[in-house]
Amino acid sequence: MNQSEPSILTLSVDIGGSGIKVIVLDDLGNPVSDRSRLKTPKPATPEAVIKTIVTLAKAETFDRVAVGFPGVIHNGVTYTAVNLDSSWIGFDLANALSEKLEKPVRVANDADIQGWGAISGKGLELVITLGTGFGAALFIDGKLVPNLEMGHHPFRKGETYEQQLGREALERKGKKKWNSRLAKAIANLEHLFNYDNLYIGGGEAKNINFELPSNAKVVPNVAGLLGGIKLFVNS
Ligand code: BGC
Repeated sequence: MNQSEPSILTLSVDIGGSGIKVIVLDDLGNPVSDRSRLKTPKPATPEAVIKTIVTLAKAETFDRVAVGFPGVIHNGVTYTAVNLDSSWIGFDLANALSEKLEKPVRVANDADIQGWGAISGKGLELVITLGTGFGAALFIDGKLVPNLEMGHHPFRKGETYEQQLGREALERKGKKKWNSRLAKAIANLEHLFNYDNLYIGGGEAKNINFELPSNAKVVPNVAGLLGGIKLFVNS
């Protein structure tokens, strides 16, 4: 970029089950605003969530928008939203939000975006996110395998990773049990994927109280916003 040219600013949005967060990134993906957050509306219908994003966006200056969404995404359309509302199934989020904000909008799965904000870009890298739900993203030499819905895959005792390790399980079962389940999950995943690195993000990763294997580390939750720049840079 020519130094005299102004930076193209990206509003990065992370839609979560409990909070909606935004930050503004410059061309290089560096934050140029503080992170701001509002509670996810209940019920979290497309209209209510878009209204919350518009409120957050009003306080910012930006040219384009990157959105991390907690469900399967194809071409800006949301196909699942287990922790939001069933009315998201088949909703064209990219176009609906673009009309409201009058800016180009791109959308990807939240764990995929978190991964872009965390990985090194070398080898086989797995990302899991521990928040309201259980997110997962897989990268090979920095190339994403999109929409890896591992959270809803069977884990143990007839339950999925999300049922055993989502926020509801953490609150119901307590930290001790949740940590011992997480240690088991990591051992499983290491055998399944044989990854070089595992990154653990999401708001509940702060509750981890055991020593992680040397190829695993916790990444700051802001990665879920920083990775948004890749929605524009990779294309
Ligand atoms: C969704 C995933 C999402 C994860 C974390 C799961 O319930 O199915 O798409 O990445 O929650 O938000």
